[in-house]
Amino acid sequence: MTAAVIAIDGPSGSGKGTLAEALARRLGWRLLDSGALYRSVALAAAQRKVGFDDEAGLADIARQLGIEFRPGDAGIAVRLDGQDVTLQIRAESVSANASRVAALWAVRKALLERQRGFRCEPGLVADGRDMGTVVFPDAQLKVFLEASPEERAARRHKQLIDKGLGGSLRGLLVGIRERDERDRQRVESPLVPAQDAVVIDSTALGIDAVEQRVWQLIEARGLS
Ligand code: C5P
Repeated sequence: MTAAVIAIDGPSGSGKGTLAEALARRLGWRLLDSGALYRSVALAAAQRKVGFDDEAGLADIARQLGIEFRPGDAGIAVRLDGQDVTLQIRAESVSANASRVAALWAVRKALLERQRGFRCEPGLVADGRDMGTVVFPDAQLKVFLEASPEERAARRHKQLIDKGLGGSLRGLLVGIRERDERDRQRVESPLVPAQDAVVIDSTALGIDAVEQRVWQLIEARGLS
């Protein structure tokens, strides 16, 4: 028997990262923040001056990159070849570049087995865009979290301010719309709910209400 997986997919700012982290903590399961992998590839590519149209070069980075996730008091710290990049990978320029590298088939392929390698007992909570459709199609529970672009931009704005990073609300909304478009329209693993996903719109729901709803699903499926 392979370990259980809960897949949490959805666009940026839908609250899936916060939800996935809360569920992993509550269940005592491992957490996979797959967006951080794409962000790390984008950051390393910029640092190494590998072009965003160089698919083979970007796939090499995705294959070889030394990425480590370390759970800490303030969430999960991300280290890239020994360097702490937790804050750096959240910058808006990295968000935009991550969605560009994520559209490339060779990069997605290079990250596929890496992501599957996170699956372990007692279970994995996996957060991303294609966790339920491509990476873990056999997940025991698939949640697709939605929210309006305006609400997501406002949430991202607050997150950045809290982290001491800047960004205009208007600029964030434009960036979110562009990324949504790229993530939803791409040929490789587009952002769509899996057929068997439970879709939840979090626009008017607080994170606690969303967590409560998902927890009921977890209990109903005997995963807690
Ligand atoms: O979730 P996060 O905003 O950190 O993801 C950054 C980018 O990485 C997304 O805009 C998306 O293009 C890409 N991504 C993806 N597939 C995943 C996770 C993230 O394509 N499973």
